[in-house]
Parts: sequence; structure tokens; C-alpha cells
Amino acid sequence: MPKDEAKLTGPDLSQGVPLADLPVGGKLVGHVGKDEVLLVRAEDGIFAVSPHCTHYHGPLGEGLVVGSTVRCPWHHACFDLRTGEAVEAPAIDPIACWEIEQRDDVIAVRGKRKRPGPRPRTNGAGRPERVAIVGGGAAGFAAAEMLRRNGYQNALVMLSADESLPYDRPNLSKDYLAGTIPFEYVPLKTERFYKENDIETRLGQAAVELDPTARQVVLESGERLPYDRLLLATGAEPVRLTVPGADQPHVHTLRSLADCQSIIQGAESSRRAVVIGASFIGLEVAAALRGRKLEVHVVAPDKRPMERILGPDMGDFIRTLHEVHGVVFHLEDKAIALDGKAVRLEQGGSIEADLVVVGIGVRPRLGLAENAALKLDRGVVVNQYLETSAPGVYAAGDIARWPDPHSGQSIRVEHWVVAERQGQTAALNMLGGSKPFEDVPFFWSQHYDVPINYVGHAEAWDEITIDGDIASKDCLLRFKRNGRVAAVASIFRDLESLKAEVAMEHAKA
Ligand SMILES: Cc1cc2nc3c(=O)[nH]c(=O)nc-3n(C[C@H](O)[C@H](O)[C@H](O)COP(=O)(O)OP(=O)(O)OC[C@H]3O[C@@H](n4cnc5c(N)ncnc54)[C@H](O)[C@@H]3O)c2cc1C
Ligand code: FES
Repeated sequence: MPKDEAKLTGPDLSQGVPLADLPVGGKLVGHVGKDEVLLVRAEDGIFAVSPHCTHYHGPLGEGLVVGSTVRCPWHHACFDLRTGEAVEAPAIDPIACWEIEQRDDVIAVRGKRKRPGPRPRTNGAGRPERVAIVGGGAAGFAAAEMLRRNGYQNALVMLSADESLPYDRPNLSKDYLAGTIPFEYVPLKTERFYKENDIETRLGQAAVELDPTARQVVLESGERLPYDRLLLATGAEPVRLTVPGADQPHVHTLRSLADCQSIIQGAESSRRAVVIGASFIGLEVAAALRGRKLEVHVVAPDKRPMERILGPDMGDFIRTLHEVHGVVFHLEDKAIALDGKAVRLEQGGSIEADLVVVGIGVRPRLGLAENAALKLDRGVVVNQYLETSAPGVYAAGDIARWPDPHSGQSIRVEHWVVAERQGQTAALNMLGGSKPFEDVPFFWSQHYDVPINYVGHAEAWDEITIDGDIASKDCLLRFKRNGRVAAVASIFRDLESLKAEVAMEHAKA
């Protein structure tokens, strides 16, 4: 047997399988030649696609079929089974599709379909002449890609204060920081993609002013860029520690690739690290640095890590999980000064550390919006189409506060998937569409081998119910407010998490 075929599982789908073996909603992973293929029987047809999500290769065979789409169990990307298109981030690239033949109640998979090219470029009515995107992160990148995917053919410029092309920010506190993946996995796309798609990337060029009346954005150099539609996607910046000694070179925050690389450099010559803040980022950094064999102490004022977002039981679990991996917590305590390498604590004592990483929250970057007199409310206020108070100016990602139809509140979140999907929705609306942003918020976090998925939005709750057992890493927590499920957090209950997402999509406040 050829080497590749040895790894293949399931039936040879080119030989055909009885229709009766595949009930509606059923999935079957098999192979055709050297390719693994997922056969799906949706309500309106039978489809054969690649079983590997194009985000991080999540197993689509374990995902959820909804209409003629399949959702990935890991981070909830959604693919159209008819075309393979990644219709919802975090996946961007399509999955492969195969032809199906049905004869006498037997389904056989035939040849792989040619990957469809982008939609034809058109100059349709209402299409802008010039689109400018301010921000080369999750939302900015996803918007640029979606504009071109939808055939937008006119000028497209993406400004980024960052020196790097858009990259996978969540990886900066996970595998890349831990040293378990190579750098090649970090950029979202290579330079070639931007060239081929005629996306003008201006790296290291911050916008310093926005003039919505003249429809111009001003660069540091004084250059004024005209636009017809503009997306503001400037993200957030880490809150800095202001105690004495916090300005030393071994004290870091983590937002950009450059930040991450300087932490990695610091870690290479360090024996002990102090992480200040028991937030998602702080604790992911703690896990990654343990992966690099550093001794890690976490200092935070909280009673339990992440209790405010995940509740007390999950908080206790996360603490134990990190302690089992050797992290030492100093909770209900604060760093009050950094005397050289010594981190001095409010409750007395100090910890000597060669490396300090501060993860005490972020603030949305609102300067441009504020100076342009856009409507603000703890973020840039947008309507359901993600348009700000200035016509033609859209906002997406960490800066945007949008009317969430599910909670009935105006919310702003700091989630990768939300930022990308908002960028995608804003792109469609900049092209003259009128697609409301109605996605249920989703985020994930990863600590060692434990992924935590969170769907919905619960700033407060009356009750948390727990299915399964948190300590056994097999659980689903429902955060309920006024009798309705506002959010769900889960560990290794991916299908239930997807089902909860679908249920929340149908529930509007
Ligand atoms: C280390 C880390 C790990 C994370 N892990 C997760 C995770 O596991 N799951 C999850 O859901 N979320 C995670 N997040 C949060 C997620 O990355 C953010 O919610 C997301 O990146 C927000 O996207 P954005 O486009 O709004 O902003 P960003 O991705 O921050 O992009 C903003 C861009 O704007 C640029 N910019 C800013 N000001 C200007 C200006 N004036 N002119 C031009 N450009 C400008 C910046 O340089 C940057 O390129 C993580 C964040 C960090 C920092
Ligand atoms: S692996 Fe599929 S969404 Fe991340």
C-alpha cells in the first residue's frame, strides 16, 4: 500500500456507500485515492468535501451540519457544502469539494472539483471607487479579503501601524510563544496574496487623522488619502503597568508580533518569569512559558483567575490546571514596584524575575474616531450594518460597539472571530449590501492541552448550571440571566457548543 494510503481511514468512497448508511444530518469520513473525503447528507442534498478545516485543520466530520453548511467543532468556522467557501471566519480559505454520483440508492464520490476563482470583478452600481482600511489586524484583513472575494475591483488600501503583514494574533500567546510552531504559521497570508489581489498594504504607516467631511484619512507623513468608504479597525492596546520600575526593558506587554518576539528573546535567557494579571492572555502566556521550561509566577488581585467571565468553578479549575503544570499563584495581591529584577508585592515579599509580562487588560484605540467626532460610547458606536455615525465610515473589531440582537444590548467584545466576521460584514456593506451583523459572539482560549470555548455574551448572570464535570475536562456551563441562556462555556463538548450557538442565533431579545 502506498505510504499516504496507509493513513487513510473509512471506506473507499469511490466504490460507493449505501444511501441508507447516511441518514439526513449524517457524516461519513472516507477516502478517494489519496484524499480524505467527508460525505455529508444535508437536508437538501449530499455533498463530498475535505474533512479538514482550513483554519487549524479541525475535524469537520465532528462538526455540525446546519442547512447546507458545516461548522467546525474547534472555533466555529462555517463552510458552504455546495461550494466549499468559508462563509464565516476564522477560516478564510475554501475546502475542496468532490462530485457525487447517486445510482440505485448508492452514493459514490467522483472527481475533485476545480477550485472556483474569486467572483468576477465588477464595477456594479453603488460600488465605491476607493476603499481605505485603517488597521491590519483581524478585522482589517478579513475585510480586505472579503472585498476582493466579492469582486470589488477598485482601489483598496490597508494602512497598518504594525510593521508586519496581518498575522494570527491568538497564536502569539499560545503555540508560537511556546515555541511549538514555526514562524511560517503566523502570517495570515504571504506577501503574494496581497500582490495577486491588488491590496495595497502600507505597513508601519499609522493614520493620524480622519476627516469624514472631506472623506480623507491623513497619514503621519501628512499625506491625505481620499476614500469613498472607510473601515476603522484599529483594535486595542494593552493597559500599561504604571508602578515604579515598570518601564524596564525586561517588562513586556503582548499585543503585536514584535512584542511576542521580544518576549521569546527574553525567555531564551530567563530562568523565572512573573506574569502580572490572571487574564486569558496572562494565563496563556504562563502556559506558553512553562512550555519553555521557565519557572512562572502569576500575580493578580483576583480571588480566582477568570472568575468574572467564567464563574467560580471554572476559575478554580483553571487555577488547579496551571498549578498542576507548576505555575505559582499570588492571588489577591498586586505588584507595587519593580526594584530591578525584584517584583515587590503589596502583601509583602518580592519575586525575583528575569522576565515580566503584564496582561492587565486592553483599551480600544479610539483616538481617530474621537478626533473625528464619531459617536462614542465606550467604543465606536455602529448600527447593525456596522456603519458609524459618519456616513461611509464603518468600524469593526475591538473598537466597535454594536447592537447585539441576542442580548438586546449594545456590546463591544475583544474576540478574534467577532473581529474577522465584523470585517467581513462591513466589507459586504461597503459594497452596497445591507447585511446586519447578527452573529453570536464566540471566543476560545487554550491552556496546555485544554481548550475553552465560549459562545454568547454574559456580563452578569443569575445562575450557572454545569453539565458534566469540569475537573474531568468534559463540561458545558450555561450562564443564565432572567431564565435565558446568555452564554455557554465548554471544554471538549464541541458539538454541544455548536448546537448552543445555533439555539442562541434563533433567540433574539
Ligand atoms: C496575544 C493575544 C492572544 C489572543 N488570543 C485570542 C484568542 O485565543 N481568542 C480570541 O477570541 N481572541 C483572542 N485575542 C483577541 C483578538 O486578537 C482581538 O480581539 C482581535 O485581534 C481584534 O481584532 P481587531 O482587528 O479589532 O484589532 P487588531 O487585530 O489588534 O488589529 C488592529 C490593527 O490596527 C493597527 N492600527 C492601530 N492604530 C492604527 C492607526 N492609527 N493607523 C493604522 N493602523 C493602526 C494595528 O497596528 C493593528 O494592525 C488575543 C489577543 C492577543 C493580543
Ligand atoms: S480549526 Fe476550524 S475553526 Fe479553527
